[in-house]
Amino acid sequence: MATIASVWRRLVTCLSSLKFYLILLCLVATVFVLLQICSFQITQHSLSLPPALLTYLKHQPEQQSENKTAYLVEKLRESVTFLPLKDIRFSNKPLEGHTWFMSSLLDNQTKGEAQYQEFPADSSNGRLLCLKGIDEHDGSWNYYALAWPEALPTNAMLQEGLTFVSYNQYDYGNLWHGLSAAFPFVSWSLRNQCEKPQKWVLYHKGELRYWMGNWLSEILTATYGQEPEIIHFVDKNKPVCFEKAVVMRHNEGGMSREKRLEVFDHLRCKVRNYCNIASSETSKPRIGMTLLLRTGARSFKNESAVINVFKRECERVDGCVLSVSYSNNLTFCEQVELMKRTDVLVSPHGAQLTNLFLMDRNSSVMEFFPKGWLKLAGVGQLVYKWGANWSGMRHEGAWHDPFGETCKFPDTDKRCMSLVYKNAMIGYNETYFGEWARLVLGKVNIRKKEEIPEHNHVSLDVCSQC
Ligand SMILES: *[C@@H]1O[C@H](CO)[C@@H](O)[C@H](O)[C@H]1NC(C)=O
Ligand SMILES: *[C@@H]1O[C@H](CO)[C@@H](O)[C@H](O)[C@H]1NC(C)=O
Ligand SMILES: *[C@@H]1O[C@H](CO)[C@@H](O)[C@H](O)[C@H]1NC(C)=O
Ligand SMILES: *[C@@H]1O[C@H](CO)[C@@H](O)[C@H](O)[C@H]1NC(C)=O
Ligand SMILES: *[C@@H]1O[C@H](CO)[C@@H](O)[C@H](O)[C@H]1NC(C)=O
Ligand SMILES: *[C@@H]1O[C@H](CO)[C@@H](O)[C@H](O)[C@H]1NC(C)=O
Ligand SMILES: *[C@@H]1O[C@H](CO)[C@@H](O)[C@H](O)[C@H]1NC(C)=O
Repeated sequence: MATIASVWRRLVTCLSSLKFYLILLCLVATVFVLLQICSFQITQHSLSLPPALLTYLKHQPEQQSENKTAYLVEKLRESVTFLPLKDIRFSNKPLEGHTWFMSSLLDNQTKGEAQYQEFPADSSNGRLLCLKGIDEHDGSWNYYALAWPEALPTNAMLQEGLTFVSYNQYDYGNLWHGLSAAFPFVSWSLRNQCEKPQKWVLYHKGELRYWMGNWLSEILTATYGQEPEIIHFVDKNKPVCFEKAVVMRHNEGGMSREKRLEVFDHLRCKVRNYCNIASSETSKPRIGMTLLLRTGARSFKNESAVINVFKRECERVDGCVLSVSYSNNLTFCEQVELMKRTDVLVSPHGAQLTNLFLMDRNSSVMEFFPKGWLKLAGVGQLVYKWGANWSGMRHEGAWHDPFGETCKFPDTDKRCMSLVYKNAMIGYNETYFGEWARLVLGKVNIRKKEEIPEHNHVSLDVCSQC
């Protein structure tokens, strides 16, 4: 019996401890599941934010609650990023597409207009343009950035009003290159209620320029009624941000012929008024022929021979008067006045020919080149042919001197251009010049006869809109 009872007791103990174990197992399982759920929720949190940032954010709320706006504005200010103005990744194609100047920004391509950028604008999300750097030798050490007006970069100076920012691959001294750079700005003003710039910023390959040639300066003074003021950047740590800025980096590229004609008409009118040249025809010969001569590079070898040919041909035409002038010793207004009197401009290829748009519309241009240019000078030699077309003049062709200095390399070698031909002098062919002059004067003579004579009003021209 004792054995039975002891077995029974053991069985009960065993069973009750099994129940205990089962309960324990249940508890452990529940806790495990709960833990799993908790850890799953935590994992979900940390999926999107790294732990370091979580720790950082935990410490922020106290600061933020003081003034959240001021805090965010400060962050915005610090996040303004300056990029190099000249992006040397594009140095093999500096003028293509968005160019290497402010290469991260796109142009506004309005039909018939030069490509341009305006700040602030929708495309900049209302941000202003800021410029930084004082480098005059390497454009990759000057910088640009966009910044919201409420969060301009630290140390920034705000330039009020409208600023024209010009990028030029060439220079601001040469008449043609300078005018090409300024031209699209004038067009912009014409379609923006004649808005005038308060300041100018000039870049050449991203390098700052504080000077423009006198001729260009006079053109702009005449156009805007005030001398162009160029901003000087003095402190490389102080950016300048512009209340309003217009950037041109393609010269007049993209403009339609109609638009160019309109701008040239406007410039001609403004400049004549500025120089106080009345539209009275009394001082103007019936046909004005002008020999605009150069000294040095690309001058005529025998000027008296050339003058004699054109003098002879001019004298054969009723009312034709020949003027002979040197471009380098005429004041700006003397050039403007001379062009007003000119119907046929006779001149070697060179910057002085930029003046051609200052003649009355439909006037003629005869151009001369030294030996070698036709083959080696590329499309650049056509600029005055284009300039004549764009300003409503007639380019009557060009004479290419077949003779000249010999080059030690073959005739087609590019080195000959820079070494010999570029600045060579120009000869003459009496027969050719004579026949050519007769032909052009004949056409001008017919045109003048058909033209209704203008009224003899002495008032100044009324320029289109501005
Ligand atoms: C918070 O900062 C902004 C920007 O600095 C300021 O305009 C505003 O008045 C400040 N607000 C308070 C409550 O201080
Ligand atoms: C381009 O200029 C036009 C006219 O000012 C303007 O309506 C348009 O929004 C501009 N486009 C861009 C991309 O800036
Ligand atoms: C210039 O040409 C004329 C002929 O038109 C000639 O008499 C004169 O000798 C030439 N002068 C020079 C320096 O070659
Ligand atoms: C203009 O320059 C030319 C050549 O440089 C010179 O012969 C002429 O006398 C000058 N004329 C005036 C008005 O200064
Ligand atoms: C220029 O010539 C064209 C065509 O010959 C003529 O229609 C136009 O009226 C002329 N313009 C001026 C300003 O004389
Ligand atoms: C100007 O060039 C265009 C196209 O190249 C041509 O159609 C037009 O007749 C030219 N105009 C003048 C006045 O030469
Ligand atoms: C001068 O021009 C005429 C007419 O074009 C031409 O016949 C002649 O060959 C030229 N003379 C020289 C020396 O090139």
